[in-house]
Amino acid sequence: MDKFDWLESFELGIAEVDEDHRGMLAIMKKIEQAADNEAYDLCNELLDELLDFTVMHFKREEEMLTEVGYPNVDIHKKYHTELLARAKSVKSVCQDIKSKNNLKECCYEMFSFLVDDVVNGDLKFKSYLEEKGVIKRP
Ligand SMILES: [Fe+2]
Ligand SMILES: [Fe+2]
Repeated sequence: MDKFDWLESFELGIAEVDEDHRGMLAIMKKIEQAADNEAYDLCNELLDELLDFTVMHFKREEEMLTEVGYPNVDIHKKYHTELLARAKSVKSVCQDIKSKNNLKECCYEMFSFLVDDVVNGDLKFKSYLEEKGVIKRP
């Protein structure tokens, strides 16, 4: 399996959020390809795009959580802020690398912070949203 393929288990059941998460993984895949092709300029652009996209996603998700009255929205916001700060600092390191394998390693490190939201962080509000009926239980 490819590292950044979408898995069924990532699905939260909120179309908007799931679509964003899919979008994040899709950009990561493009970055991996660009790194493989040693297309460094393209890779740099895509790294910026990934971060911008994630900023937008986090904002959207936080608004949704506020709207449904999720009690730990501040904790989740703080978690997002920390992930972004880490991803941002690794991103600038990646953007200076001009060696394929080192670049890929660096990108994977950056991705690991952002993927944490998809595979770990967001599961924390899933059951709350199920109770609220925002997510239909399977
Ligand atoms: Fe998310
Ligand atoms: Fe999140």
